[in-house]
Amino acid sequence: MRIILLMIICLILTAAPLLVVQAEESDVSSKPSMSGQAEADAGKSLFEGRCQTCHQLPEPSMLRPNQWKFILAIMQQRMQQAGVPQLTEGESEMILQYIVGQSG
Ligand code: HEC
Repeated sequence: MRIILLMIICLILTAAPLLVVQAEESDVSSKPSMSGQAEADAGKSLFEGRCQTCHQLPEPSMLRPNQWKFILAIMQQRMQQAGVPQLTEGESEMILQYIVGQSG
């Protein structure tokens, strides 16, 4: 677990300059199309439905919000590599909001 986290941190550091551009494009506040509660529920089911295909469901409190943002971008690449459908920008945003809401 420690080693994997270290690997992730290295990945994040190398990938950060590339990912910042993508992260900034998906502005959290830009699309409040659903009510807060509906969005939180959708985020929960997306998280539970999409984030334990390849490993156990991660614990929201294990990372800070901006770290989750990077992890989600890396997971998009993992999904692409594995041939699993990637998250849309909206789905990814709902998952992020749900995780951050849970992380206390
Ligand atoms: C296509 C497979 C796949 C899916 C789907 C996937 N992951 Fe991952 N995930 C991985 C792999 C592989 C790793 C191991 C580290 C690496 O190579 O990036 C990983 C590692 C992680 C880690 C690092 C800590 C740990 O438990 O090892 C977190 C956090 C994480 N994933 C979160 C998520 C979240 C959140 C989602 C849903 C949006 C998700 N993953 C969906 C493949 C996946």
